Amino acid sequence: MGKYIIAGNWKMNKLPSETYDFVKEVVEATKGAECEVVCCTPYVCLAPAIEAAKGTHVKIGAENLHFEDSGAFTGEVSADMLVDLGVDYVIIGHSERRAYNNETDETVNKKIVKALSKGLIPIVCVGESLEEREAGITMDLIAIQIKKAFAGITAEDAAKVVVAYEPIWAIGTGKTATDDQAEEVCGGIRNILAALYDDATAKAVTIQYGGSMNAKNCAGLLAKANIDGGLIGGASLKAPDFATIVAAAK
Ligand code: 13P
Repeated sequence: MGKYIIAGNWKMNKLPSETYDFVKEVVEATKGAECEVVCCTPYVCLAPAIEAAKGTHVKIGAENLHFEDSGAFTGEVSADMLVDLGVDYVIIGHSERRAYNNETDETVNKKIVKALSKGLIPIVCVGESLEEREAGITMDLIAIQIKKAFAGITAEDAAKVVVAYEPIWAIGTGKTATDDQAEEVCGGIRNILAALYDDATAKAVTIQYGGSMNAKNCAGLLAKANIDGGLIGGASLKAPDFATIVAAAK
C-alpha cells in the first residue's frame, strides 16, 4: 500500500569510528533494493553515516529529536541540526523512549509536527505491552496513540508519515508477533487513518512492523497486505541479515 521502507534502528549500538565502513557494507549488501533502505543511527554516528551513504540509495535517520527549534535544552538535538547534517528520517516515540525518557503522546505529536515542518520524515512508533494485549485493549490503545500522534496534522502531511507498529513484548525478546497478529493491528492502523483522513491518505502511509523481525521471519510478515516494511533493531546491526530483510521487501 504505502511505499516499502526497511529501516534499521541501531539503538545505542556501534561506534562513530565503525559507522562509515558499516554503512558502506549496507550499501553494498542492499544494491538493487526494490524498497527504501534507511539506517537510523545514534546522533554521534550520523555524520559518518551520511558521508558513507552520500550518492547511494541508502538514507540516514536519527533516533530522536527535540520539538523546539533552539534554546536552553542541554543535551538535546533540533530538527534544524539534523537537516543541516543531511538526515532524511527520524524515529519518534519509540517505546524505549516512552519508557525511559518521559516521551508521551503529547511530545510525540509535537515532534512529528516539528519534523514535518522541517522536511524530515517521521517514523512514528506505536505499540502495546503484554498486559495490554492480554487485557484485550490493543486496538483501543493503538487508536489513542495514533489519534494523538496525528493531532493537528493535515492529510497532505499525514501521507508523508511512516507508522511503525512495534508490540513492546516483541522488541528484543525474540518473540515476534505472528504474521496474522501483526497484519491485524497494521490493518487496524490503516482503518483509523482512513477514518481520521480518507482512504487515499491511509493507503499512502507506510505502515511498518517492528519487533524481533529478522532474516528468517521477514518474508511472511512483509507478504501481508498492510505491512509495508519493517523497523529492525538487532538484525540491522549485521549487514547480511539486514540485506536479507531488504530483499524480502518488494
Ligand atoms: P528488535 O528488532 O531488536 O526486536 O528491535 C525492534 C525495535 O525496537 C526497532 O525499533
